[in-house]
Amino acid sequence: MRTFILLALVAACSAVVYKMETKKSENLRAKLIQTGRYQEFLAKQHESRINLNTGSQPFLDYYDDFYLGNITLGTPAQQVTIVLDTGSSNLWVIDAACKTQACNGYPDSGYTKHKFNTTASTTYVSESKKFSIQYGSGSCSGHLAKDTLVFGGLTVANQEFGVANHLAEVFGYQPVDGILGLGWPSLAVDKVTPPMQNVLSQLDQPIFTVWLDRKLNISQGGLGGLITYGATDSVNCDSTITYVPLTAKTYWQFNIDAFAIGTYSESKSQSSISDTGTSWVGAPASILSAIVKQTKATFDWTNELYTVDCATSSSLPDLIFTIGGTKYNVQAVEYVLDLQLGGGKCAITFFSMGSGSFGPQWILGDTFIRQYCNVYDIGQARIGFAKAHHSF
Ligand SMILES: *[C@@H]1O[C@H](CO)[C@@H](O)[C@H](O)[C@H]1NC(C)=O
Ligand SMILES: *[C@@H]1O[C@H](CO)[C@@H](O)[C@H](O)[C@H]1NC(C)=O
Ligand SMILES: *[C@@H]1O[C@H](CO)[C@@H](O)[C@H](O)[C@H]1NC(C)=O
Repeated sequence: MRTFILLALVAACSAVVYKMETKKSENLRAKLIQTGRYQEFLAKQHESRINLNTGSQPFLDYYDDFYLGNITLGTPAQQVTIVLDTGSSNLWVIDAACKTQACNGYPDSGYTKHKFNTTASTTYVSESKKFSIQYGSGSCSGHLAKDTLVFGGLTVANQEFGVANHLAEVFGYQPVDGILGLGWPSLAVDKVTPPMQNVLSQLDQPIFTVWLDRKLNISQGGLGGLITYGATDSVNCDSTITYVPLTAKTYWQFNIDAFAIGTYSESKSQSSISDTGTSWVGAPASILSAIVKQTKATFDWTNELYTVDCATSSSLPDLIFTIGGTKYNVQAVEYVLDLQLGGGKCAITFFSMGSGSFGPQWILGDTFIRQYCNVYDIGQARIGFAKAHHSF
């Protein structure tokens, strides 16, 4: 049988690997601070937090660096730029019929949104069912639909997704047209099957690997990162990958056995998630206090973040996470960020998760993922970490 031989050949040569380059946006916070619009942005963000209900995705924080990817939807293909987010599980894009400032993008955000024109696609199927997703920084809502999705060279016919016709104001500042969630199906709003689940049968292995390059200046060209679907990334990541089992199949959730910085250490097991959609690291309130003390950081009430002196920041202690018996160090070069705040001050990239008992205690966002490639193993419900190689 011809097809059989062909399949066998493909298997023997192995590895049909699907790769998707990601690009890092300009740092949004730095840009807003420099153009004097950060206070207005913070106020909008506070407004949308007041409306925060107890939705399934309470902790996401999009307001900084974005690792973006291009996907297409529809026939003929319409390209949109989305955030690749392991902290949520739905795909949504903006309806071309939505004409609000948030849907169009604020004129001074320097980004014009690519909206999805449903009537221009011959494969588009509208659904009457509504969707609404609450993220940490704001909500979006609209209705569900189905169409052909292409991402990372993979094609899904009839992918169900959200067509948003209402976006919270904060989205108007962000250089993105939507979000593609890479979390587990049980986290998906309206039980929509996430794109990753729909491509598993096309992959050699039911995994994907995320590599993020170090704080890349995009105007210098090059990649911001790479997502490899169906394989590990032997070019950008160390070959030693250490796995730990997931403790839930919602977020990519696992336990941190211990944490240390400088003379502080905490050896209580705490739950954590790996979230590419969060720029910084969310830490339990008590641990954040310890980090602040160990780095001698002070709180900047105007910009609502902790700062240290840029000049001496390279001598700050490593963060040391113990996960599954292995120690993972994150150096100051990764967690100190120059937002050009003035006065020789740099931000440390942490925020407080509060001390509530709901949800994970830690979020390991891009600050952590830049230092360690994350291998998201759907088949074996585990996550792996490998040292990341960087272009500089
Ligand atoms: C998406 O495609 C556009 C042009 O087609 C390109 O300028 C942009 O850099 C791409 N973005 C990403 C994240 O790959
Ligand atoms: C959407 O596409 C249709 C058909 O190509 C076109 O007539 C319409 O003007 C487009 N709508 C928008 C809002 O761009
Ligand atoms: C990025 O690199 C370009 C070219 O080297 C430089 O002109 C620009 O100032 C850099 N931007 C930042 C934010 O470092």
